[in-house]
Amino acid sequence: MANMKCASFLPSFLLPLLFVLAVATVAAGDVQFVFSGFTQSSLTLDGSAVVTQGGLLDMSNGTNNVKGHAIYPAPLLFRNSSTGKVKSFSATIIFCIVGTFPGVNANGMAFFIAPSKNFTDALPTQYLGILKQENNSNLLVIEIDTFQNLELKDINDNHIGIDINNVVPVQSNMAGFYEDSSGGAFKNLTLNNGMKLQLWVDYEEEETRINVTLAPLHVGKPLKPLLSATYNLSTVLTETAYIGFSSTAELMNARHYILGWSFGMNGQAPYIDISKLPKLPRVGSKPQSKLLAILLPIATAALIISIVTIVILMVRRRRRYREVREDWEGEFGPHRFSYKDLFDATEGFKNKNLVGAGGFGMVYKGVLKLSKKEIAVKRMSHDSTQGMKEFVTEIVSIGKLRHRNLVQLLGYCRRKGELILVYDYMSNGSLDKSIHCEQDKLTLNWAQRFHVIRGVATGLLYLHEKWEKVVIHRDIKASNVLLDDDMNGRLGDFGLARLYEHGTDPQSTHMVGTMGYLAPELVRTGKASPHTDVYAFGMFLLEVACGQKPIKQTTEEKQVFLVDWVLEHWTNGSLSKTVDTRLRGNYNTDEACLVLKLGLLCLHPFPSSRPSMRDVMQYLNGEIPLPKLRPTPLSLGMQGLMQDNGFNTSVMSYPQLMSSFSAMSDLSGGR
Ligand SMILES: Nc1ncnc2c1ncn2[C@@H]1O[C@H](COP(=O)(O)OP(=O)(O)OP(=O)(O)O)[C@@H](O)[C@H]1O
Ligand SMILES: *[C@@H]1O[C@H](CO)[C@@H](O)[C@H](O)[C@H]1NC(C)=O
Ligand SMILES: *[C@@H]1O[C@H](CO)[C@@H](O)[C@H](O)[C@H]1NC(C)=O
Ligand SMILES: *[C@@H]1O[C@H](CO)[C@@H](O)[C@H](O)[C@H]1NC(C)=O
Ligand SMILES: *[C@@H]1O[C@H](CO)[C@@H](O)[C@H](O)[C@H]1NC(C)=O
Ligand SMILES: *[C@@H]1O[C@H](CO)[C@@H](O)[C@H](O)[C@H]1NC(C)=O
Ligand SMILES: *[C@@H]1O[C@H](CO)[C@@H](O)[C@H](O)[C@H]1NC(C)=O
Ligand SMILES: *[C@@H]1O[C@H](CO)[C@@H](O)[C@H](O)[C@H]1NC(C)=O
Ligand SMILES: [Mg+2]
Repeated sequence: MANMKCASFLPSFLLPLLFVLAVATVAAGDVQFVFSGFTQSSLTLDGSAVVTQGGLLDMSNGTNNVKGHAIYPAPLLFRNSSTGKVKSFSATIIFCIVGTFPGVNANGMAFFIAPSKNFTDALPTQYLGILKQENNSNLLVIEIDTFQNLELKDINDNHIGIDINNVVPVQSNMAGFYEDSSGGAFKNLTLNNGMKLQLWVDYEEEETRINVTLAPLHVGKPLKPLLSATYNLSTVLTETAYIGFSSTAELMNARHYILGWSFGMNGQAPYIDISKLPKLPRVGSKPQSKLLAILLPIATAALIISIVTIVILMVRRRRRYREVREDWEGEFGPHRFSYKDLFDATEGFKNKNLVGAGGFGMVYKGVLKLSKKEIAVKRMSHDSTQGMKEFVTEIVSIGKLRHRNLVQLLGYCRRKGELILVYDYMSNGSLDKSIHCEQDKLTLNWAQRFHVIRGVATGLLYLHEKWEKVVIHRDIKASNVLLDDDMNGRLGDFGLARLYEHGTDPQSTHMVGTMGYLAPELVRTGKASPHTDVYAFGMFLLEVACGQKPIKQTTEEKQVFLVDWVLEHWTNGSLSKTVDTRLRGNYNTDEACLVLKLGLLCLHPFPSSRPSMRDVMQYLNGEIPLPKLRPTPLSLGMQGLMQDNGFNTSVMSYPQLMSSFSAMSDLSGGR
């Protein structure tokens, strides 16, 4: 927006008249003007200088080796007509230099007071398009120089200087300002970095002092000028002179923009309204790149972080749910569970879902997401893959068995060093918890116990005889008998001990863990058979009837074997005293005695003297009576141990002190 106090209201077709008027004005009094943008300024332009559509005075159009001038159209009267001295004056200029190559300085611009508008003779580059090589006169030039010409003693490539009739400055200083707010400290400014700067040129008639002050646009005029030179301009300037700007461009071109300009003769230059200044062109999309400079790293960082996070999550997910799967498992497809399903079902194998821990590993309760079915998940650590195929094959084929007295195996899953088996969940837990609970707390009455015993016997018979091949359970004990919703006894963990037989030494922790259920010949040879299952079943019978563990540690040294204890009572004719006291006598005496005696029979040290599960079923059902048993003291020796010792076939001799396993083993080995 142009705002010429003297002629701003004039339309452009009256321009020729303006010159006349302007000159007249000059003659009449002191000129004062202010331009916030140059749209209607009617400046005299030559060379590369143009006023853009937006009202910006563009001194250099981007071409190399050009010069340009923008001159206030009318000459100004600089001298007092009566005294003849150069009057005080002041000018304010708002400009901006944008270097084509930031950091590389070239060329410069200048504010001048000159006797004529004809600069055809003036030289570009260091002569700023105003001066000639010699014979310069009547010139005041304020150079805004971004080029260091050592020949001309330029102090650096970023300086302001006062030149009078010469390219060598009267005074110069590096661009900057004395900041009022910090007590007059000098602050550097870079001229050609695209920053809007304000320059003040003041001359005082009496003092003959020229002050030049520079500051960033939004900083007010500093108190201390950048340059302050005493020079009597009355000896320099002509009576009337032109004021304006010059710009030169050589190789490294820069853009010189003037946004606003005000001048006051014999007084202060008017204030330039900053809000009305024209906008700078988007040079090299600078503001955009500034935005990008901030956003791009953030966006890039965010992208990288998210990619890394996703990768980490995927890797963790893969590692977390990683499984081992081999070709031969194809046929077990329907029985194969994915680890993720089991992980989700047990809420990540949380401790709160842990229902128990045994010799093989941990057992967790879970709920399958899709079917909402309750499952028991058994995690077993297993290092070797040796025998795994046989084991899985066996487990899965056994898993195909369906029987109301077996805990249904639903499937399995394999991970590195780990085998996971999935069973039906048994809501009433394992039998050992019900039997070996606190004293006086009755959880299972006799009828329930007897029902469970028959159930377990049915289950074991099924394993031994009803399927196409003999399945040996290998680990019958109270903790492997589980109670379903209807309090049926169900055998669990069949065949599992098998996994640990391969390659592991017989003295494994598991063997020790189920001590008391091991038949003497199993301890000796390590070979499981239906007879060893029957032996363990016998121990289970005593355990259920007496409510006691097979081996009781009374003191540190002394162990009491349940068999011996029952046998002793039997010998003494007080068998009913061994029945669980928690039952408080509420039991069927016949059934209890049957169970106890059958237990002892199953616990016979000679495998062949033990009944088969089929026999056991018949005894339990009362279909056939128990053979008459006769307790025989061990002191009778070999004879006493022999069955059918020439006496009655239906009377069996029975050794005392069953716990002498080694002795038993030796004896049975002799058979
Ligand atoms: N299918 C199931 N349903 C409900 N609870 C179960 C199931 N399987 C096992 N449990 C519980 O988990 C506990 C631990 O079982 P686990 O089989 O690991 O050990 P154990 O039976 O004591 O010894 P072993 O390792 O010799 O079998 C059991 O005592 C039982 O309470
Ligand atoms: C710049 O100005 C010079 C001198 O007037 C002229 O020759 C040249 O064509 C101009 N260049 C542009 C790009 O306007
Ligand atoms: C010239 O100077 C004299 C004395 O300083 C002053 O009175 C007079 O007003 C000035 N004239 C102009 C035109 O400035
Ligand atoms: C400018 O000056 C040169 C010589 O100094 C002269 O040849 C030329 O005609 C002048 N131009 C104008 C427009 O006066
Ligand atoms: C400068 O002025 C001197 C004396 O007036 C003259 O001899 C010389 O030729 C001039 N030089 C130029 C370049 O005009
Ligand atoms: C200002 O510029 C001078 C000369 O280039 C330099 O020595 C000084 O360190 C600069 N000061 C600041 C604050 O940039
Ligand atoms: C120039 O600056 C000095 C301070 O350095 C100040 O005293 C003086 O009044 C100034 N003169 C003008 C014309 O601004
Ligand atoms: C400045 O120069 C003029 C003319 O030569 C003279 O009259 C005046 O006294 C000078 N002023 C100072 C302060 O020297
Ligand atoms: Mg178990």
